[in-house]
Amino acid sequence: MEIRLEDLKETEEFGIKLGKLLKSGDILCLNGDLGAGKTTITKSIGIGLGVEEYITSPTFALINQYRGRIPVYHFDVYRLEHVEELYDLGFDEYFYGDGVCIIEWADRIEKMLPEDRIVIDIKKGNSNSERTLYIHGFGKRYEEVIKELK
Ligand SMILES: Nc1ncnc2c1ncn2[C@@H]1O[C@H](COP(=O)(O)OP(=O)(O)OP(=O)(O)O)[C@@H](O)[C@H]1O
Ligand SMILES: [Mg+2]
Repeated sequence: MEIRLEDLKETEEFGIKLGKLLKSGDILCLNGDLGAGKTTITKSIGIGLGVEEYITSPTFALINQYRGRIPVYHFDVYRLEHVEELYDLGFDEYFYGDGVCIIEWADRIEKMLPEDRIVIDIKKGNSNSERTLYIHGFGKRYEEVIKELK
């Protein structure tokens, strides 16, 4: 599915809507260039998930945890040098745990990701504020989410 967002406000609305649909165990992968809007949309997804804290980029921490209506694990694997470092983080407890995982730069750790997941590629448009989201759902659960997003 392809969705065009004209500006920040539309990104925020979309993020909140998606956040409301997410459930325990969901894996959401975000890809796109530096400054594409991965962290920005995560903030809104967090609002949709009931996170009241301010979500910041986990670039240095690799992972930040938040309490929404369910736990939210926000990854940014940009600085990961080897996918094996994920073992030190205990990543599988998050991926196969009781919360929602949102992973920036997920394409860098593709082979470590659960097969079932939602993948969103964010591309900048012609204007500074325009974005296009390319959304793919792998697995039954995510096909449902995508249907509800339409
Ligand atoms: N429609 C939009 N959607 C998302 N971000 C937008 C939009 N319009 C403008 N922006 C701006 O683009 C920037 C996106 O930065 P952001 O940190 O979210 O990107 P990122 O993909 O997380 O980058 P990085 O790879 O460095 O983590 C922000 O400054 C945001 O305000
Ligand atoms: Mg970011």
